[in-house]
Amino acid sequence: MEAVILNHPLVTHKLSILRSKKTGTKEFREIVGELSEFLCYEALKDAELEECEIETPLVKMKTKRLNENKYAFVPILRAGMGMIDGVLNVIPNAKIGHIGLYRDEETLEPHKYYYKVPKDIENREVIIVDPMLATGGSAVDAIKMIKADGAKKIKFLCMIAAPEGIERVQKEYPDVQIFAAALDEKLNEKGYILPGLGDAGDRIFGTI
Ligand code: PRP
Ligand code: URA
Repeated sequence: MEAVILNHPLVTHKLSILRSKKTGTKEFREIVGELSEFLCYEALKDAELEECEIETPLVKMKTKRLNENKYAFVPILRAGMGMIDGVLNVIPNAKIGHIGLYRDEETLEPHKYYYKVPKDIENREVIIVDPMLATGGSAVDAIKMIKADGAKKIKFLCMIAAPEGIERVQKEYPDVQIFAAALDEKLNEKGYILPGLGDAGDRIFGTI
Protein backbone atom coordinates (compact mmCIF):
# COMPACT_ATOMS: atom_id res chain seq x y z
CA MET A 1 0.00 0.00 0.00
CA GLU A 2 1.26 3.48 -0.89
CA ALA A 3 2.69 5.43 2.08
CA VAL A 4 0.93 8.70 2.84
CA ILE A 5 3.23 11.65 3.53
CA LEU A 6 1.40 14.67 4.93
CA ASN A 7 1.84 17.50 2.51
CA HIS A 8 0.66 20.68 4.14
CA PRO A 9 2.36 24.03 4.92
CA LEU A 10 1.35 23.78 8.57
CA VAL A 11 2.97 20.36 8.88
CA THR A 12 6.19 21.66 7.29
CA HIS A 13 6.12 24.60 9.71
CA LYS A 14 5.61 22.38 12.78
CA LEU A 15 8.29 19.95 11.61
CA SER A 16 10.82 22.78 11.26
CA ILE A 17 10.33 23.61 14.94
CA LEU A 18 10.40 19.94 15.92
CA ARG A 19 13.65 19.25 14.07
CA SER A 20 15.52 22.27 15.43
CA LYS A 21 18.01 21.41 18.18
CA LYS A 22 17.02 24.66 19.88
CA THR A 23 13.50 23.35 20.58
CA GLY A 24 13.08 22.30 24.22
CA THR A 25 11.22 19.34 25.70
CA LYS A 26 7.92 21.11 26.37
CA GLU A 27 7.51 22.47 22.86
CA PHE A 28 8.80 19.26 21.33
CA ARG A 29 6.11 17.24 23.15
CA GLU A 30 3.40 19.70 22.18
CA ILE A 31 4.30 19.52 18.49
CA VAL A 32 4.54 15.72 18.51
CA GLY A 33 1.01 15.80 19.96
CA GLU A 34 -0.32 18.16 17.30
CA LEU A 35 1.27 16.26 14.41
CA SER A 36 -0.06 12.99 15.83
CA GLU A 37 -3.53 14.45 15.70
CA PHE A 38 -3.08 15.42 12.03
CA LEU A 39 -1.71 11.96 11.19
CA CYS A 40 -4.59 10.19 12.90
CA TYR A 41 -7.10 12.43 11.15
CA GLU A 42 -5.53 11.47 7.80
CA ALA A 43 -5.41 7.78 8.71
CA LEU A 44 -9.16 7.82 9.36
CA LYS A 45 -10.02 8.97 5.86
CA ASP A 46 -11.27 5.48 5.02
CA ALA A 47 -13.18 5.03 8.31
CA GLU A 48 -16.52 3.27 7.97
CA LEU A 49 -19.30 5.10 9.75
CA GLU A 50 -22.48 3.66 11.26
CA GLU A 51 -25.93 5.02 10.59
CA CYS A 52 -27.61 6.67 13.54
CA GLU A 53 -30.46 9.02 14.37
CA ILE A 54 -30.00 12.14 16.48
CA GLU A 55 -32.12 15.11 17.39
CA THR A 56 -30.83 18.63 16.77
CA PRO A 57 -32.48 21.40 18.82
CA LEU A 58 -34.88 21.71 15.86
CA VAL A 59 -35.52 18.33 14.21
CA LYS A 60 -34.65 14.65 14.13
CA MET A 61 -32.10 13.67 11.52
CA LYS A 62 -30.40 10.56 10.23
CA THR A 63 -26.63 10.84 10.31
CA LYS A 64 -23.51 8.73 10.74
CA ARG A 65 -20.93 8.27 13.45
CA LEU A 66 -17.70 6.48 14.18
CA ASN A 67 -17.81 3.38 16.34
CA GLU A 68 -14.84 4.21 18.56
CA ASN A 69 -14.92 0.69 20.02
CA LYS A 70 -13.44 -0.62 16.80
CA TYR A 71 -10.02 0.96 17.31
CA ALA A 72 -6.86 0.33 19.31
CA PHE A 73 -3.74 2.46 19.49
CA VAL A 74 -0.45 0.73 20.12
CA PRO A 75 2.55 2.94 20.95
CA ILE A 76 6.01 1.42 20.61
CA LEU A 77 7.73 2.33 23.89
CA ARG A 78 9.09 4.56 24.80
CA ALA A 79 8.95 7.32 22.17
CA GLY A 80 5.54 6.17 20.89
CA MET A 81 4.01 7.31 24.19
CA GLY A 82 4.63 10.87 23.06
CA MET A 83 2.01 10.42 20.32
CA ILE A 84 -0.74 8.95 22.49
CA ASP A 85 -2.38 12.15 23.77
CA GLY A 86 -2.62 13.47 20.21
CA VAL A 87 -4.25 10.37 18.73
CA LEU A 88 -6.59 10.08 21.71
CA ASN A 89 -7.86 13.58 20.94
CA VAL A 90 -9.15 12.08 17.68
CA ILE A 91 -10.57 8.78 19.05
CA PRO A 92 -10.92 9.27 22.82
CA ASN A 93 -12.51 5.86 23.44
CA ALA A 94 -9.97 3.73 21.61
CA LYS A 95 -8.24 1.07 23.69
CA ILE A 96 -4.47 1.16 24.09
CA GLY A 97 -1.90 -1.62 23.89
CA HIS A 98 1.82 -1.24 24.58
CA ILE A 99 4.83 -2.79 22.92
CA GLY A 100 8.20 -2.25 24.58
CA LEU A 101 11.10 -2.39 22.13
CA TYR A 102 14.56 -0.90 22.30
CA ARG A 103 17.05 -0.82 19.48
CA ASP A 104 20.51 -2.23 20.17
CA GLU A 105 22.90 0.64 19.43
CA GLU A 106 25.44 -1.64 17.76
CA THR A 107 23.34 -4.10 15.76
CA LEU A 108 20.26 -1.81 15.38
CA GLU A 109 18.15 -4.93 16.09
CA PRO A 110 15.02 -4.31 18.19
CA HIS A 111 14.64 -6.16 21.51
CA LYS A 112 11.26 -6.78 23.09
CA TYR A 113 10.79 -6.07 26.81
CA TYR A 114 7.01 -5.60 27.12
CA TYR A 115 3.85 -6.62 25.30
CA LYS A 116 0.25 -6.06 26.36
CA VAL A 117 -2.63 -5.39 24.00
CA PRO A 118 -6.43 -5.39 24.40
CA LYS A 119 -7.88 -8.94 24.54
CA ASP A 120 -10.22 -8.28 21.60
CA ILE A 121 -7.48 -6.85 19.36
CA GLU A 122 -8.51 -9.16 16.50
CA ASN A 123 -11.78 -7.22 16.23
CA ARG A 124 -10.16 -3.80 16.15
CA GLU A 125 -8.37 -1.67 13.62
CA VAL A 126 -4.90 -1.24 15.12
CA ILE A 127 -3.00 2.02 14.76
CA ILE A 128 0.65 1.65 15.77
CA VAL A 129 2.38 4.89 16.73
CA ASP A 130 6.12 5.58 16.90
CA PRO A 131 7.73 8.90 15.95
CA MET A 132 10.59 7.34 13.96
CA LEU A 133 10.61 4.74 11.18
CA ALA A 134 14.34 4.27 10.61
CA THR A 135 15.55 0.80 9.52
CA GLY A 136 11.99 -0.44 10.00
CA GLY A 137 13.10 -3.21 12.37
CA SER A 138 10.97 -2.02 15.31
CA ALA A 139 7.90 -1.45 13.12
CA VAL A 140 8.17 -4.88 11.50
CA ASP A 141 8.53 -6.63 14.87
CA ALA A 142 5.57 -4.74 16.31
CA ILE A 143 3.39 -5.57 13.29
CA LYS A 144 4.42 -9.23 13.53
CA MET A 145 3.34 -9.43 17.19
CA ILE A 146 0.02 -7.74 16.56
CA LYS A 147 -0.73 -9.91 13.54
CA ALA A 148 0.10 -13.02 15.59
CA ASP A 149 -2.71 -11.91 17.93
CA GLY A 150 -5.16 -11.84 15.03
CA ALA A 151 -5.38 -8.15 14.06
CA LYS A 152 -6.30 -7.80 10.40
CA LYS A 153 -6.27 -4.08 9.71
CA ILE A 154 -3.12 -2.29 10.85
CA LYS A 155 -1.81 1.21 10.18
CA PHE A 156 1.50 2.76 11.21
CA LEU A 157 1.84 6.45 12.09
CA CYS A 158 5.16 8.26 12.50
CA MET A 159 6.63 11.75 12.50
CA ILE A 160 9.58 10.99 10.23
CA ALA A 161 10.21 8.02 7.96
CA ALA A 162 13.41 6.99 6.19
CA PRO A 163 13.13 5.44 2.71
CA GLU A 164 14.81 2.28 4.10
CA GLY A 165 12.11 1.87 6.77
CA ILE A 166 9.21 2.41 4.39
CA GLU A 167 10.70 -0.07 1.94
CA ARG A 168 11.15 -2.73 4.62
CA VAL A 169 7.63 -2.43 6.04
CA GLN A 170 6.10 -2.41 2.56
CA LYS A 171 8.12 -5.46 1.56
CA GLU A 172 7.23 -7.51 4.64
CA TYR A 173 3.73 -6.19 5.25
CA PRO A 174 2.32 -4.65 2.06
CA ASP A 175 -1.14 -4.48 3.65
CA VAL A 176 0.01 -2.10 6.43
CA GLN A 177 -0.34 1.52 5.40
CA ILE A 178 2.24 4.01 6.66
CA PHE A 179 1.35 7.63 7.45
CA ALA A 180 4.30 9.97 8.02
CA ALA A 181 4.54 13.72 8.55
CA ALA A 182 7.82 13.69 6.54
CA LEU A 183 9.87 11.39 4.36
CA ASP A 184 13.56 12.13 4.95
CA GLU A 185 16.68 11.40 2.89
CA LYS A 186 18.49 8.46 4.43
CA LEU A 187 20.00 6.80 7.50
CA ASN A 188 23.47 7.57 8.79
CA GLU A 189 25.98 4.86 9.77
CA LYS A 190 24.45 4.70 13.26
CA GLY A 191 20.92 4.16 11.97
CA TYR A 192 19.74 7.72 12.66
CA ILE A 193 17.47 9.44 10.17
CA LEU A 194 19.00 12.37 8.26
CA PRO A 195 18.19 15.20 8.52
CA GLY A 196 15.76 13.82 11.13
CA LEU A 197 15.28 15.23 14.60
CA GLY A 198 17.75 13.21 16.68
CA ASP A 199 16.68 10.64 19.24
CA ALA A 200 12.91 11.02 19.55
CA GLY A 201 12.66 9.31 22.96
CA ASP A 202 15.40 11.47 24.45
CA ARG A 203 13.82 14.64 23.11
CA ILE A 204 10.31 13.75 24.31
CA PHE A 205 11.39 12.68 27.78
CA GLY A 206 14.30 15.09 28.23
CA THR A 207 16.90 12.36 28.71
CA ILE A 208 19.51 13.91 26.42
C1 PRP B 1 13.50 4.49 18.33
C2 PRP B 1 12.18 4.87 17.72
C3 PRP B 1 11.75 3.56 17.10
C4 PRP B 1 13.04 2.96 16.65
C5 PRP B 1 13.17 3.18 15.17
O1 PRP B 1 13.32 3.85 19.53
O2 PRP B 1 11.27 5.39 18.64
O3 PRP B 1 11.07 2.69 17.98
O4 PRP B 1 14.09 3.65 17.34
O5 PRP B 1 14.29 2.54 14.66
P1 PRP B 1 14.21 1.31 13.65
O6 PRP B 1 13.20 1.68 12.61
O7 PRP B 1 15.61 1.23 13.11
O8 PRP B 1 13.83 0.08 14.42
P2 PRP B 1 14.52 3.38 20.47
O9 PRP B 1 14.87 1.96 20.20
O10 PRP B 1 15.62 4.38 20.41
O11 PRP B 1 13.86 3.35 21.91
P3 PRP B 1 13.20 4.50 22.81
O12 PRP B 1 11.89 4.86 22.18
O13 PRP B 1 13.01 3.79 24.10
O14 PRP B 1 14.15 5.66 22.90
N1 URA C 1 15.34 6.47 16.46
C1 URA C 1 15.33 7.79 16.75
O1 URA C 1 14.89 8.19 17.83
N2 URA C 1 15.84 8.64 15.83
C2 URA C 1 16.33 8.24 14.66
O2 URA C 1 16.76 9.07 13.86
C3 URA C 1 16.33 6.86 14.38
C4 URA C 1 15.82 5.99 15.29
